[in-house]
Parts: sequence; C-alpha cells; structure tokens
Amino acid sequence: MTTTRRLATVLLATIVLNVGGVATAQAGAHTSAEPAPVSAAPAVPRPEGYVPTVLVTGANRGIGLELTRQYAARGWKVIGTARKPAEAKELNALAAASDGRVVVEGLDVMDLAAIDALAQKYAGKSVDILFNNAGVTGGGANQQFAKNMHWELFDSVHRTNVVGPLKLAEAFLPNLLAGYEKKISNVSSSQGSIGTTKTGTLYIYRSSKAALNMVMVNLANQLKSKGIAVALIDPGPVDTDMMASLPKKMLRPVTTAGSDLIRITDQLTVQNTGTYWTFDGTVLPW
Ligand SMILES: NC(=O)c1ccc[n+]([C@@H]2O[C@H](COP(=O)([O-])OP(=O)(O)OC[C@H]3O[C@@H](n4cnc5c(N)ncnc54)[C@H](OP(=O)(O)O)[C@@H]3O)[C@@H](O)[C@H]2O)c1
Repeated sequence: MTTTRRLATVLLATIVLNVGGVATAQAGAHTSAEPAPVSAAPAVPRPEGYVPTVLVTGANRGIGLELTRQYAARGWKVIGTARKPAEAKELNALAAASDGRVVVEGLDVMDLAAIDALAQKYAGKSVDILFNNAGVTGGGANQQFAKNMHWELFDSVHRTNVVGPLKLAEAFLPNLLAGYEKKISNVSSSQGSIGTTKTGTLYIYRSSKAALNMVMVNLANQLKSKGIAVALIDPGPVDTDMMASLPKKMLRPVTTAGSDLIRITDQLTVQNTGTYWTFDGTVLPW
C-alpha cells in the first residue's frame, strides 16, 4: 500500500468515527465555556468603503487557493503566501487578474525569520484576518507506532502546523490590531479532537492539530481584551491533494469547504473566540 493510500484509508476510517462522535460529544465539550455556536454571533461592522485585507498561508493550492479566490471575489485584498511563488501558477493568475488586490508572497511557515521579514515588509499596514491554512500530515505510513514511526517528522509537522501559525500571529499582531476585523482563523482538523479519537493512528498529525488548538485557545484568551478573536475550524474531508486517494464521493468540494470556512470566520467575534468548530458550525469536543 502506498503512503498516500495508507493515509487515505486511515483518514476515511477516522472520518466515519469522528462524524459519529460529534453528535454525542459536543454537549460535554464546551459545558462551562462561553463560546457560542457561530449562528449566534453577529457579523463585525466595517466602515463604509473600507477594503479589508486577509493573509492566507499555503495559498497556492487546495483550501488556501480557494480561500484566496473567494476573498478576492468579494473584493478583498489578499496576501497569499506560497513556498514556491514562482511555481504558484493559479495563485499568480488570480493576482494578475485582481488589479493589485491579490499579492503573492514567498513564505515557508517553518522559517520563523522569514515570517518576521514578511511582517516587517507589511509594517504599518493593516491585516484584518490572518488565515493560518498551510499544513501537512506527514503521511499516514510514517506515523505508525512500533511499526514505522518517523520520529524526525514530529519536528517538521509540528513546526508547520503549530509553531508557524503561532509565530505568524505574533509577527502580524500589530497589523491585526490596526485592522477592523481583528481575527485569526486557523484551519484545524477533527483529527485534533481528543474527545472523538477512537483509533491509534496519525500520531504526528493528530497531535499537531491538538497542539494547534491549545496554542490558539491560549491566544484567544490573551487577545480577547485587545478585541482580537481566534477560531479553530475543521473543514471536514475536502477534495484536495491531501486527500487525493480517497474516493471523491467521500470528499467535500473545495469550493464548499472554502465558503464554510469564510462563513464561520465572518461570524467569529470576541464573544465566541477560542471555539473549535466543524464546517457546519457544530462545536467539536476538544
Ligand atoms: N483536505 C482535508 O480534508 C483537510 C481536512 C482537515 C484539515 N485540513 C487542513 O487544511 C489545511 C489545508 O490543507 P489542504 O487540504 O488544502 O492540503 P494541500 O492541498 O496539501 O495544501 C497544503 C498547503 O499547505 C502548504 N504548506 C505545507 N507546508 C508548508 C510550509 N512549511 N510552509 C508554507 N506552506 C506550506 C502547501 O504548500 P506547497 O504547495 O508548497 O506544498 C499547500 O499550499 C491544512 O492545514 C490541513 O491540515 C485539510
């Protein structure tokens, strides 16, 4: 079995388990927490004529490209980052057709100095939403305990999925404070939900998304008083390269996933900050 196929098989099994787990577990997940379902939250009003800016990481393909496409179609400014910007054909095409509203920047989110350098480049400019989307699984075959565990992958997957997003939040904090939306939206995963985990697989990816959830809940608590709201959003199983070996009928179109992520982000406020949602607005158990 290939690495991708093995990952797909594992994900398929856990999707079924997780979907089954959400309905029963959500009541206990946020029992004492304030965060409300997204449907209860009003949209943030902006001054007339203001054009917001969203920074999307991993914007060259998959969910990140779709987020860029949809925000650009709304008339927003988008800073779309890619590890290899020269090869980001579709992203560059979007930028070329955008009258300067879509800008492509090179960024590997594992490179903390590069994150600082990018933030320096945008010093004094507002960023309304930081969309931490870039992420990796590490491959299902590489994270099988007592069988085939690539220990060094822990570093690179966690650096990409946890350290990078937090560092981006830190580096772009002044830009976010200068914006009107004041939001950090993180593409998490139901794989990071400890409460719904029923199998022993994907040690590295799952722990990275659980860690992402934890650092972002910390951040939500810390930034609430500054008016910045933070979301963790699971897009569900989406038809991207990450899920290439799953049957398409099991996957959600990337267009739908993109609009779900944006809808939930629209409804994110400091009242529901720190919540872990799945794509339909259901609160997931930690
Ligand atoms: N697809 C799903 O079913 C699903 C489900 C739950 C959660 N998610 C999450 O959704 C997010 C997007 O995934 P996707 O499905 O769109 O996957 P994808 O098609 O594989 O795209 C991943 C994106 O992340 C970028 N990336 C990876 N490592 C990076 C790094 N070190 N620095 C900068 N960019 C990096 C990739 O850039 P390159 O092109 O340079 O590799 C690519 O743009 C991820 O956080 C993933 O965990 C996806």
